[in-house]
Parts: sequence; structure tokens; C-alpha cells
Amino acid sequence: MELSSTQTHLLINTGMSVLGFLFLLNIIPKFRDMFVAANLYGIDMSKPGRVKIPEAQGVVCGAVFLIIMFLFIPFPFYKHLAVNHSTKFPHNEYIEYIAALLSICCMIFLGFADDVLNLKWRHKLWLPTMASLPLLMVYFVNFDSTIIIVPLPLRSYLGHDVNLGVLYYVYMGMLAVFCTNAINILAGINGLECGQAVIIALSVLLYNFLEMSGPYHQAHVFSAYFIIPFLAVSLALLYYNWYPSQVFVGDTFCYFSGMTFAVVAILGHFSKTMLLFFIPQVINFVYSVPQLFRMVPCPRHRLPSYDPKTDKLKMSMAVMKSSNLNPLGQGIIWVMRTLGVLHVEEEKEEKMTCNNMTLINLILKFTGPLHERTLCVILMIIQM
Ligand code: UD1
Ligand code: MG
Repeated sequence: MELSSTQTHLLINTGMSVLGFLFLLNIIPKFRDMFVAANLYGIDMSKPGRVKIPEAQGVVCGAVFLIIMFLFIPFPFYKHLAVNHSTKFPHNEYIEYIAALLSICCMIFLGFADDVLNLKWRHKLWLPTMASLPLLMVYFVNFDSTIIIVPLPLRSYLGHDVNLGVLYYVYMGMLAVFCTNAINILAGINGLECGQAVIIALSVLLYNFLEMSGPYHQAHVFSAYFIIPFLAVSLALLYYNWYPSQVFVGDTFCYFSGMTFAVVAILGHFSKTMLLFFIPQVINFVYSVPQLFRMVPCPRHRLPSYDPKTDKLKMSMAVMKSSNLNPLGQGIIWVMRTLGVLHVEEEKEEKMTCNNMTLINLILKFTGPLHERTLCVILMIIQM
């Protein structure tokens, strides 16, 4: 059987990714002491003792990802460089690769800056928006299609399709901000940040292969070229980040993975479908809104709290004075409590505690205390 050129390129891409995977498995342990010496470490809060775990390993991963992509890019284009090749060099396709890598590279840089400097929330919202601009520009020049097909139940009201115009660009910019931050706030237990990224990547890849025979062949091939190396570097990181973690992925990995998903979704024309792969992150974000927007107090860390006696994790709580809560905060707590999705304890002297509003704590509310690895496996199953 003869392979088509796309199949050959996908095989080359996979081969390079496997090499990248093996390379990372080899080098991550070698970088550990270097990161700790540079004060890039975190304390695993769900373990007894205060062991220093190297943080921000996403930067090693991101570097290997970029190397794989830079080495791979010539393959889909080399035949156009031959002097006697009939078709012109596809500049528009080439620029898509370059812009995509530029956006991803920016986010690795920002994530690493966050790990080193602990940036403020406003930076975390603005910088991904800026990093997505080169991408939106390429989208504008190459496609500029802002028409969306209306879902079946709404067609009798809105018609078959709607042109969103500039709003579509606003949506795509927001998708980049959402993807980068959504993974970062569903975090705090061993293996979770990386595990969710691996499952989303597998889902995207499966979707790409299913759609490759359809009308958007080229877009899905483009996406697979990015997702296969991403999957490889994430799997290597997961190997060291799984319970009990030997390394932490850091914000670098969260931003790197979020931007990679946003990039392939935007340039692969499946930015709405991508949100379906992010359902647990969407639920976690919506549930977190009262704390994220400070309607209810939000502690620096919302990860579950560790009980050394049982070696299990239980819900972590936010403490507040009920008299300090504004009517909006009080109303939100009342609604969530009535719906049965918030655990509230009231003590005398107006002191009140409620669980931190994350999907992880919500699961613990229903299941009771769980071992860290079990909790991560449950979250992985939900993601699947
Ligand atoms: C986000 C969350 C925060 C959560 C933190 C945990 C929001 C708004 N922010 O903050 O609530 O506590 O992630 O990652 O939801 N850590 C562990 N075990 C792990 C992973 C991390 O103990 O498996 C701890 C380590 O001390 C590590 C630190 O979390 O150093 C990393 O936190 P960081 O990524 O800086 O927190 P944020 O992303 O700002
Ligand atoms: Mg983080």
C-alpha cells in the first residue's frame, strides 16, 4: 500500500514526537536540581513533610515541543521548494504555522514569567488576549469567515446561519483567555493539570482523525501536526507528575497547553466544538465565578486540604464574617446552598465557612474524603 503525502507527514510527525517523548523522559530528572537551586520549587501541600518539588517543568516540555515543531515544519513544505515544482509556495499555509507557534511561544514565556514572578490577575487576562492577536490576524487574512451555523432547535428563530462579524473575533480572543486560565484553575492535586491536558489532546486528536476524510481535511491535518507532539511531551511530563509527583508542571504548562488548544481550534475551524472538550473546565469556571470575581472571599490556594492522619483529602474551606458579605455574596451563598452544591458551616460571632468553589471540592462534598490519586482518577474519568 502506498502512503499519501499527508500520511507520510503524519508518520514523520509521530516519529519525531516519540523521540521527543523519550528525550523528555531522559532529561526531566536531570533538570530537577537546577530548578530547585534557582528557587523554582513548590511544596507539595498534600503530603506529610515539606518536600521541595521542582516547579515550572512545563518550560522544559514547551522547549522540546517547539524543537519538534521547528524540525517538522519543512516536511509539509519541502516539495514546493523544488525548482521545477508546478504549484506556488503556499505562503498562506506557512504563515499559519508560524503565527500559531508565535502565539504558543508567547504563552510559554508568559507562563514562565508567572511561575517566577507570580503575576497579578489582570496580567493573566490581558497577556493571552495580546498573544492571540497574531493568530486572529492570520485568521482574518486567510479565512475571515465569521458565519456560524445555528444549532437545530434555534433555526426556526434565527435561520440556518448567522454572521457574527467582529463579535466572532472577540469570541476567539476570549477563547484563548479561557483555555489558558481554565486549566490553571482546575489544579492542585498531583497529575491533574497534565492529566486533563492529555485527555483533551486525545479527544481532539480522535476528532481530527474522524474529520480528516471530510471537507475540512487540511484544517484537521494542521491540528494533528500540533496535537501529536503536544500529546507526546505532555505524556512524558505526566509520567513524572502523576501521584506521588516528582515534579510540578507550573503555570508554564497550563498556559502552554491552553494556548495550543486555542490555536488548533481557531485555525482548525472548530473553536465551538473545542468547548465541548472543556466541559469540566467550564463547570469549574462557572462554579468558581463568585470567588474569582471576589463576590465571596477567595484564599490564595483553593486546593483540597490534606489530613495526615488518614492520608486523604477533604474539602478546603473559605472563612468569612457574614456581616462583611455584601447582599450579592449572601444571595449567591444562599442559592448555592439551597441547590445543595455548597457546604456551609455557621458558627457563633458571625463566623461563617463554606467550601472553596472548585469542581474538586464539589466532588469531595458528595463523596467525602478521598485519597489524592483516587480523586485524580475520578476527575480524569469525568474529563473523558
Ligand atoms: C491555582 C488556583 C489555586 C490552587 C493552585 C494549585 C484559582 C484561582 N487558583 O492558582 O486555588 O490552589 O492553582 O495549583 O483557582 N500544588 C500542590 N500539589 C499539586 C500541584 C500544586 O501542592 O499537585 C501546590 C504547590 O505548592 C505548588 C502550587 O500549588 O507550588 C502551585 O500553585 P500555582 O500554580 O502557583 O497557583 P495558581 O495557578 O496561582
Ligand atoms: Mg497554577
